[in-house]
Amino acid sequence: MSLLIVGGTGTLGRQIVRKSLHEGFQVKCLVRNFRKASFLKEWGTELVYGDLTLPETIPLALCGTTAIIDCSTTRPNDLYNIELIDLKAKYILIESAIKANINHYIFFSLLNSNSYSKIPLIRLKILIEHRLRASKVNYTIFNLSGFFQGLIPQYALPILDQESVWITAESSSVPYINTQDIAMITIKSLSISQFINKSLPLVGLKTWTSSDIIKLCEKISGKRSKITTVPIYLLKFTMYLTRFFQWTWNVSTRLAFTEMLSINYDLCVSMKEILYILKLDIRDIESLENYLQEYFRRIMKKLKELNYEILNDQNINRTNF
Ligand SMILES: NC(=O)c1ccc[n+]([C@@H]2O[C@H](COP(=O)([O-])OP(=O)(O)OC[C@H]3O[C@@H](n4cnc5c(N)ncnc54)[C@H](OP(=O)(O)O)[C@@H]3O)[C@@H](O)[C@H]2O)c1
Repeated sequence: MSLLIVGGTGTLGRQIVRKSLHEGFQVKCLVRNFRKASFLKEWGTELVYGDLTLPETIPLALCGTTAIIDCSTTRPNDLYNIELIDLKAKYILIESAIKANINHYIFFSLLNSNSYSKIPLIRLKILIEHRLRASKVNYTIFNLSGFFQGLIPQYALPILDQESVWITAESSSVPYINTQDIAMITIKSLSISQFINKSLPLVGLKTWTSSDIIKLCEKISGKRSKITTVPIYLLKFTMYLTRFFQWTWNVSTRLAFTEMLSINYDLCVSMKEILYILKLDIRDIESLENYLQEYFRRIMKKLKELNYEILNDQNINRTNF
């Protein structure tokens, strides 16, 4: 089976590329910057040029493709309009998939999207879900929440650097998951008919609030955090302010997400159905405790080695002079 992965340089995309190569798939990645994507080529993928803001570059990338995995989304610092990347380009990707007779189309949406349709990015995700359902292409929609990987810059690094951890006053419990587990499940789903034309939650096994995560990081790293609490009203004010200017529109969208994760984020969901179909045990899914333990262990080891090298250099310098 030959895969076209869109968004292969992203947090989730790169894990999906790695897993699919490991499982022996032939992989093509649609990328807009060959230099930035050179690591994907080194891993063994074929790179094809495509920019979602230039929709005419999309159809050619589908030549010889059996399945599409779309992990792309607007980057927060992207100047382009979110509607171009997360709506128009995806409509064209689906139209091209219909014409190219693609066997399976995998799309990543957001958990409980229908409850948050006022948030611009979520509204666009819902429109793409509708388009996929109407397309007659075999699709699977995985509904995601937060990634473990996003917790490193948000919590682990500031705690290690003794910098402020920014949190909102209210915080919901989010079922964070490792993108490597999302990748493992996504690739397995390609060969199982029970995933066809399904929309399923793909989330972690346990939910976490900001303070749970901070406590866990403190416990594992042995460091105390400095917490700065942002009131929700300030977040809302900034969101409305940034909405007025086109160049800050993406900032406004991201803030809307933060607000959504801070309050009323109903997450009484599980991925029981996926585990059942794939005959996976909960022990096959990584826990946040393990993930952070391993992260801090590796960082501490690196810091010790660095310190050892510095001390060694100082000793050499002392003996030389
Ligand atoms: N992050 C989360 O916590 C989260 C939560 C729920 C759902 N999701 C969903 O999961 C999926 C993956 O998210 P992610 O966080 O892994 O995304 P990400 O790290 O932000 O990566 C976005 C990808 O899209 C590509 N892209 C953006 N604009 C492009 C353009 N104009 N042309 C071609 N490629 C373009 C980027 O390529 P460049 O490297 O060239 O920029 C990158 O590969 C998305 O559908 C997202 O909505 C994410």
